Amino acid sequence: MLEIGVGTGRNLDRYPADVHVVGIDLSPAMLSLARARAQELGRDVDLQLGDAQALSFASESFDTVVVTLALCAVPDDHQAIREIARVLRPDGCLVWLEHVRSPFAPVRLVQRLLDPLLVRLEADHLLRDPIDHIKQGPFVIERLERSRLGYIERGVARRQSVGLA
Ligand SMILES: C[S@@+](CC[C@H](N)C(=O)[O-])C[C@H]1O[C@@H](n2cnc3c(N)ncnc32)[C@H](O)[C@@H]1O
Repeated sequence: MLEIGVGTGRNLDRYPADVHVVGIDLSPAMLSLARARAQELGRDVDLQLGDAQALSFASESFDTVVVTLALCAVPDDHQAIREIARVLRPDGCLVWLEHVRSPFAPVRLVQRLLDPLLVRLEADHLLRDPIDHIKQGPFVIERLERSRLGYIERGVARRQSVGLA
């Protein structure tokens, strides 16, 4: 499986021991923290420098792609999702958890106010929702959950064996 934007490797202890994990991140500093965490956990994880918008892997080479709190930081999240679709095998799963644009107007208003600052200071986008792009295919959404205020979303989408969007 592939984790995109693996960061400091906070998800590494969640993966079953018999799964081969590849993690990519744009930041060498994050990767070195993830390497230290993998070592602490005694996990052999293939951690590589890489850009979610232009993955260096062959098409249809992973059964599962995981992304948590990273699509909000990738400059072109739509391109990242196209790349995820490309590297997933037919019937493979995209599993994601992101902070997203809330469907509730008062929460969204606060997000709208904070977004320019957060984008400028942290390159963190508050008004995105990966589902906008995932829905365009080639995925079938199997599970979708939101937090009570609607700004945390998690889901599972299965890649269909049709042409890429
Ligand atoms: C908020 S952190 C989340 C890290 C981890 N996924 C987690 O849940 O703890 C966002 C991560 O996305 C990475 N990132 C940002 N843009 C990226 C890109 N274009 N390609 C790969 N990783 C990227 C950042 O370097 C950072 O490690």
